[in-house]
Amino acid sequence: MSNQLEKIKELVELRTQARLGGGQKAIDKQHAKGKATARERIAMLLDEGSFEEMDMFVKHRCTNFGQDKKHFLGDGVVTGYGTIDGRLVYVFAQDFTVFGGSLSEMMSKKICKVMDMAMKVGAPVIGLNDSGGARIQEGIAALAGYGEIFERNILASGVIPQISGIFGPCAGGAVYSPALTDFTLMVEGMSYMFLTGPKVVKTVTGEDVSSEDLGGARVHASKSGVTHFTAPTGKDGIALIRKLLSFIPQNNLEEPPMVPCNDPIDRLEDTLNDIIPDDPNKGYDMYSVIGAIVDNGEFFEVQKDYAKNIIIGFAHMNGQSVGVVANQPNWMAGVLDSNSSRKAARFVRFCDAFNIPLVTLVDVPGFLPGTGQEYNGVILHGAKLLYAYGEATVPKVTVTLRKSYGGSHIVMSCKQLRGDMNYAWPSAQIAVMGAEGAAEVLYAREAKEQEDPKAFLAEKEKEYTDLFANPYQAAQLGYIDDVIEPRNTRFRVIRALQQLATKKETVPDKKHGNIPL
Ligand code: HXC
Repeated sequence: MSNQLEKIKELVELRTQARLGGGQKAIDKQHAKGKATARERIAMLLDEGSFEEMDMFVKHRCTNFGQDKKHFLGDGVVTGYGTIDGRLVYVFAQDFTVFGGSLSEMMSKKICKVMDMAMKVGAPVIGLNDSGGARIQEGIAALAGYGEIFERNILASGVIPQISGIFGPCAGGAVYSPALTDFTLMVEGMSYMFLTGPKVVKTVTGEDVSSEDLGGARVHASKSGVTHFTAPTGKDGIALIRKLLSFIPQNNLEEPPMVPCNDPIDRLEDTLNDIIPDDPNKGYDMYSVIGAIVDNGEFFEVQKDYAKNIIIGFAHMNGQSVGVVANQPNWMAGVLDSNSSRKAARFVRFCDAFNIPLVTLVDVPGFLPGTGQEYNGVILHGAKLLYAYGEATVPKVTVTLRKSYGGSHIVMSCKQLRGDMNYAWPSAQIAVMGAEGAAEVLYAREAKEQEDPKAFLAEKEKEYTDLFANPYQAAQLGYIDDVIEPRNTRFRVIRALQQLATKKETVPDKKHGNIPL
């Protein structure tokens, strides 16, 4: 064999070795837990045959605790690039078979390299996490590695989409990389995220809690809002990441991809003409409205189990990607509160950063009153959503279906927050507050002097209803651009979006604003 062939043989052998990560035994252990390996996950994520691996031969350079005798090619993370539906993405997948996927100095360098490449060319970064945290043997070098990654997460924020899939443990400060990215996905029964694990919790607070109850997928989907998506299996999770990317552009200078639309844009939805209950205290399902107006009824919901009083997610309208924000009258009457405001605010900011027009469907009775909310800082949280809408320069189309009262009217993408097209259904009630409350505030004293205070207040309530419980006061002042027939909503929104395709609007030059955090 020639020298050159000898060297090529060595290369092939090294590659084979690298592809085995921590070795067959560790791979078997990973499979026995029902988990795929880093390479298997990448293969599922990317278009077949598109993966180009980088830094396969990287090794750690730690000599503490006998580490100089333990080396695995690639050092615990698989990195590179490939395509999803033909579009370039950068990817890193932590390899649990190598030192439990723990983050070393060199592993961090590999991750930072793909992040830097993604920034240079303007393509999304997807991180598949499965790691025991900082590599304990490396001490501060591993911590510095996290710092390097976090800094890049921050600088990339709003420039390229960043997505984190959690496919195993993600604990300690390591959780901050996913938290800094745009979207996080967790797998039920497989992923967990927490700053301090159950043992530390028990020592410090005495609380007994399992990993699942402390930081499992269900907890973060419904209670903390840390994760945007959950999936029943790793495979489903990866499919979900692929789908998510279909709605978003490669970077902040590009538009989201258009998809072919075979759903007629002028499709009339008669059901919408009859969806608002006569009783103003009755709910109805906002999902039916969203499904009726978007292309083929397909809605890709984000954070569906968290703060269900507001609905957020992506859809296409005439093939164009849109971000939908909608109050849900079927859940806490669609009231705004701290959690729903935070949830929607972050989504609005994502859409604005990545040129995705916003379609807002309003039926909101106000902000949730009470000490629980006030002590929790609902003033600041509500202000986040207000700020996000007011700052957003993407096309903003708003449809008020029914209630739109007081502060929540302003917050939900009203005209004065630079709303571009603000429509209302004839059932809209745009007012400072509900009629009953208004009558009580204005006439409580007078009512006491009446023979029949109840009848007196009812009369005043009716007066207020006649005056304000309609869209025409707002339309008269030009705050509503048109009152539309509900069944025609899809067509009117699409026409508005077409009109706004070349919209240009700016914010004053500044280093950055100071959103009320
Ligand atoms: C080095 C680690 C490691 C780590 C796991 N391993 N975590 N090696 N540094 N952080 C190794 C194990 O020694 C083991 O090696 C192999 O990975 C697989 O781990 P197991 O424990 O056998 O797996 P499992 O039973 O599934 O348990 C997984 C685990 C557990 C829950 C993640 O390993 C664990 O608790 N690890 C420590 C977690 C932790 O405290 N990390 C530091 C957090 S502080 P062998 O050779 O036996 O196969 C932190 C700070 C970050 O991360 C701050 C950023 C700002």
